[in-house]
Amino acid sequence: MQIGVLKSQNTPLVPMAPSVAAKYIKDGYTVVVEKGAGENSYFGDAQFEAAGATIANKADILSQSDILLVDTEISKEDLGKLKQDALVIGKFNILSNPALADEFKEEKNPIYSLDLVPRSSIAQSMDVLSSLASLAGYYAVVNSAANFSGYFPMMTTAAGTVPPAKVLILGAGVAGLQAIATARRLGASVEAFDVRSAVKEEVQSLGAKFVEVPGAKEDAGAGGYAVTQTEEYIQKQKELIHEKASKADIVITTANIPGRKAPLLIEQRTVEAMQAGSVIVDMASASGGNCALSEDEKTIDVGGVTIIGDSRLHHSLPKEASRLYSTNLYNFIKFILKEGVEGIPYEHEIVQKTLVTKSNQKSTETAE
Ligand code: NAI
Repeated sequence: MQIGVLKSQNTPLVPMAPSVAAKYIKDGYTVVVEKGAGENSYFGDAQFEAAGATIANKADILSQSDILLVDTEISKEDLGKLKQDALVIGKFNILSNPALADEFKEEKNPIYSLDLVPRSSIAQSMDVLSSLASLAGYYAVVNSAANFSGYFPMMTTAAGTVPPAKVLILGAGVAGLQAIATARRLGASVEAFDVRSAVKEEVQSLGAKFVEVPGAKEDAGAGGYAVTQTEEYIQKQKELIHEKASKADIVITTANIPGRKAPLLIEQRTVEAMQAGSVIVDMASASGGNCALSEDEKTIDVGGVTIIGDSRLHHSLPKEASRLYSTNLYNFIKFILKEGVEGIPYEHEIVQKTLVTKSNQKSTETAE
């Protein structure tokens, strides 16, 4: 079976790192990689060849591969050039792109989107959102430190004591917890806030203070995710965040609700109350932003406060992000093709959730 790897046009990631190519080849696959596919992740063609892969042009990869791996996009035109029944696997941000979901539904070739992997124990090794959120949470802190006018740890000098930076993290999911851990390692004093009370102990075990607003709505059926809060709760929350953020040096926001607009947690008045030289990193900027003033993919200055709007901070660590994504894909392929293409477990939750084409239903019917 041939696995083809396409070069991503709009991201620096490659869906197969050379070390993972070697694993596929050991498993008996033939691996064909588009020329230059890994260059933005610092993997050269020679590294793929040393791992046993072949370098080829896009047209040949499209027409000859049985499995096609991409990062976040594949055009309609390219889908039309695929071998019959070839599997397409990527991460297409389906929940925030319903139009694409509708388009994909009608495609002949089965398309799987890894951002839809369920949050279950068995799927943990395929959970690309967690892998990349961890990197992004780390980088949010490093990036905020680089843009901050002050210093993170407490320092005692002959000229006096520098107090530790005050960091406020909004949303303590995968990215938020990694941000807390990183800020603590740098010596900052950290406060964190989330609507899910389940994270309180995790926040505290990382050495941060958990800020609570009583009365949050939680839903055990939401797969570990947060749900939209009442207007009354959001108002109370904004007041407390206003108070805490006005005293913070760094605010990192990671609050998301899958498939919905991100909750607005930092109002304009809060930004205006913050001290010049402080930094906000809004990691929810692509889904509307947690901060009223942030602009997606931009760094702006509002009265001396630097606001970084970036939901793709893992792109700043492309080598590691590609390695993790490749491994998630490898685990996913190993799982769905355990019994070969004929034995894809269509009834399993992992396949049900990630297969976005209608061929899902057709195949289930055939399988029954
Ligand atoms: P996410 O990226 O959707 O959201 C980030 C955080 O923002 C979440 O902790 C959420 O509760 C919080 N949030 C949402 N609205 C908020 C508001 N109004 N105010 C404050 N915070 C708000 O979620 P993420 O980080 O991808 O995962 C969330 C949780 O899913 C994890 O903490 C974990 O419990 C669970 N999970 C389970 C996995 C598994 O079992 N395999 C793998 C990964 C995550």
